[in-house]
Formats: sequence, structure tokens, C-alpha cells
Amino acid sequence: MHISRLKLKNWRNFKSGEIQDLPESVYILGPNAAGKSNLLDAIRFLRDVSKHRGGGLQDAIERRGGVGKIRCLHARADTEILIEADVVDDSDTLIWRYELGFNIPPKGKRDPQVTKERVTSFQPDGASAVLLERPGPPEKSDELLLRETHIEQISANAKFRDLADFFSGATYVHLVPQLLKFGDQIGGRVIDDDPFGQEFMLRIARTTPRIREARLKRIETALRTIVPHLEDLRFLNDDITGHPHLEIRFKHHRPRGARQREDQFSDGTLRIMSILWLLQERGNSPLLLEEPELSLNEEIVAQLPRIMASVKSKSRSGRQYIITTHSEALLSNSGIDPRGIVIITPSDDGSSVRGVSEDEKSALCAGLSAAEAVLPNARKTGQLDLLL
Ligand SMILES: Nc1ncnc2c1ncn2[C@@H]1O[C@H](COP(=O)(O)OP(=O)(O)O)[C@@H](O)[C@H]1O
Ligand SMILES: [Mg+2]
Repeated sequence: MHISRLKLKNWRNFKSGEIQDLPESVYILGPNAAGKSNLLDAIRFLRDVSKHRGGGLQDAIERRGGVGKIRCLHARADTEILIEADVVDDSDTLIWRYELGFNIPPKGKRDPQVTKERVTSFQPDGASAVLLERPGPPEKSDELLLRETHIEQISANAKFRDLADFFSGATYVHLVPQLLKFGDQIGGRVIDDDPFGQEFMLRIARTTPRIREARLKRIETALRTIVPHLEDLRFLNDDITGHPHLEIRFKHHRPRGARQREDQFSDGTLRIMSILWLLQERGNSPLLLEEPELSLNEEIVAQLPRIMASVKSKSRSGRQYIITTHSEALLSNSGIDPRGIVIITPSDDGSSVRGVSEDEKSALCAGLSAAEAVLPNARKTGQLDLLL
């Protein structure tokens, strides 16, 4: 399953915006403060709402500082915030549509309320059925019901539990290699699903040895295409502390090579390894990745889409990844599916978001890379001014 369409109204710095026809690998490109993370946050919001443990609409709004922080500052008369998402199966056939609107009610208690919640299911032959349509009659007599969504309630989402699980399983990652390397010493609170990678070693430790070995092997094979002298990526527990570690052997002038543990890996290496691990984790919910190019040199960044696609396919993962990036080099990979390129353009009235145009698509199909076919157009219209 993956998200194929996302439509936003009054969400953060998007007064309106829609992207569609999204494949399993999506690259969101835009200058600083364009709204790349805000776009991912719409999907994180659906995740936070759908979680039946420690989640729900009120909690998801509160975590973000209230409706006032979420609602687009450029919103005018219509102040409702709306997110719509389509979900397709692995053969790109539409199966679910979820629509969620909310706002502060104009009078009475000022707690946020659902203004719209609709779930539509689609059959392979295109027939559709609306499984949920709110507000409905019960809410006319009891407004309090509008404080909660049905997707967050196990007792109410039975007919679309798959969809609730799909959203609530989304993983957001903005890896901070220092936290990963020194998590033990730093300690501290781990938020949400550990977006900064503090407990990454534990994550690896918790998998069964057989699965762990297979995943590490795939990572090693992929890494070796860019770091040829890398030899042996292994997981071990420290003899003294018992803490889990990763170890790599590098070919060396000495016969046994040089061994390094994760706290000696470069930040970039650690970041790639973590991404490649996450890509193989079970589940079919989206993986939301922030700027994987950080601390990597351009030649390696250019290889990332290829390596990620290869590990994803070898591990037979149907997991969608949605990546934010600043990097032209990342898009210089010619294997990128044009449907997966999303461009965000800032303006005085909020950012706009678009997919690849027909002309750009033809150029891509003719063999140009995204960096060649799309970036010059984005630059011409000033879309990447801040970036360059
Ligand atoms: N409700 C809102 N209305 C308008 N702009 C917002 C809102 N919330 C955040 N922003 C703006 O969005 C920008 C940050 O977007 P972000 O997604 O972090 O950018 P990027 O990830 O592309 O660097 C900031 O300039 C911030 O002020
Ligand atoms: Mg960002």
C-alpha cells in the first residue's frame, strides 16, 4: 500500500495544494523553509491522529501547539483545515480515500472539532462505498462527539482498520548521527518513534538474528558499491557492557583489516546505514525521511536513490519512502521515477506544490536525469533562488 494523492487546505504554509499519482519513492524538493517538512507533517498528523495509543485528534493538534499554529497564516474567510489522502495497493489500484477536516467551532467551547471525516473504499472494478460520513445525525444532538475522529477509535474504525493501521504505522526519521553514536552516554527522553535515532542500536538488537543478518548483508552489499574496501558489517554485543554495536571491517594493509564501531563511522555512513535498515523494516506504512544528503559528499548522494531502490527491492519491501531534499545531486540519478518528484515553490501567499510537467516528463523519458530536466525550470522561475 502507498499514498498516491495528498491534498491540503490551510495546512501550515500551504493555503492549498495537491500532489497525485505518487509512486513508492517520492522526492520532495524545495529551498529552505519552503515547507518540505510541513508537507511530511501532514502525513505525520494522520499518523498521530490514527494511533489508538497515545494518539487521537486532540493530542495531535496539541502537540503542534494548537489549531492556530497549524492553520495557514494566509487563510482568509475559509478557515477549515483539511487533509485528504488516497491510498493505492501495490499494483497502483485505488483502495482508500480518507478526508479529515477540523476547526475551532465559531461559538461555545473552543476545543477543536471535526468538521468533516469521510472514508471511502474502492473496489478493483472502480465501485466505491462511503464507509463513514461525518458529521452525521448523532453529532447533531451531541457535539462533544466531534472532538474525536472515528479513525482513532478501535470501536469505530472496524470497517477501515487497515487504513488506520497504515497511517498509524508511518515512520518519521530525521537522523542525528551524534545521538545515534552517543545515545548511551547522552540518555534522555526518546520522543515518538525515535525520529532522531537515539535508540537505533536497540532497534537492530531487537530483531531476530536471522533477519538481522540478512538485513545487514544487504546493507553491506549496497555500501560496498560506494565504499569498495568495506568488508564485513556485523552486529555484536559489547563483552563488558553488553550494549549492542555495529562493527565494520575495512580492507587494510594488515592482513586482518581495521575494525570500526559505529561511534567511529562517519556521520554520512551511519546515516546511509540507518536509512537502509529502516527501508527493510517490516510493515507497509510510509517511511518519511528528512534530508538524507546531510554529511554525505555529492558523489555518494547521487548514488542514494539507486542504493535505496536496490535494497528495497532485494528485501521485497513494499514500503513507500518520501524524502525531503535540498540536493541537486540526489536528483542526478537517472533511475528516479518522474511521478515521484514533487517541487515546492515559496511565494508571498504561501507555498505551492507541483509534480513534474508533461514537458519535463518527456525530457526524463528521453533519458535526462531529474536534475537536468526539472531543476533548470525550477531555477528559471526563481523557485530555487534560496537554494542556490
Ligand atoms: N501555519 C503556518 N502558516 C504559514 N506558514 C507556516 C505555518 N507553520 C509553519 N510555517 C512556516 O513554514 C516554514 C517552514 O517550513 P518547513 O516545512 O520547515 O521548511 P523546509 O522543511 O522546506 O525547510 C517556516 O517559514 C514557517 O514559518
Ligand atoms: Mg525541513
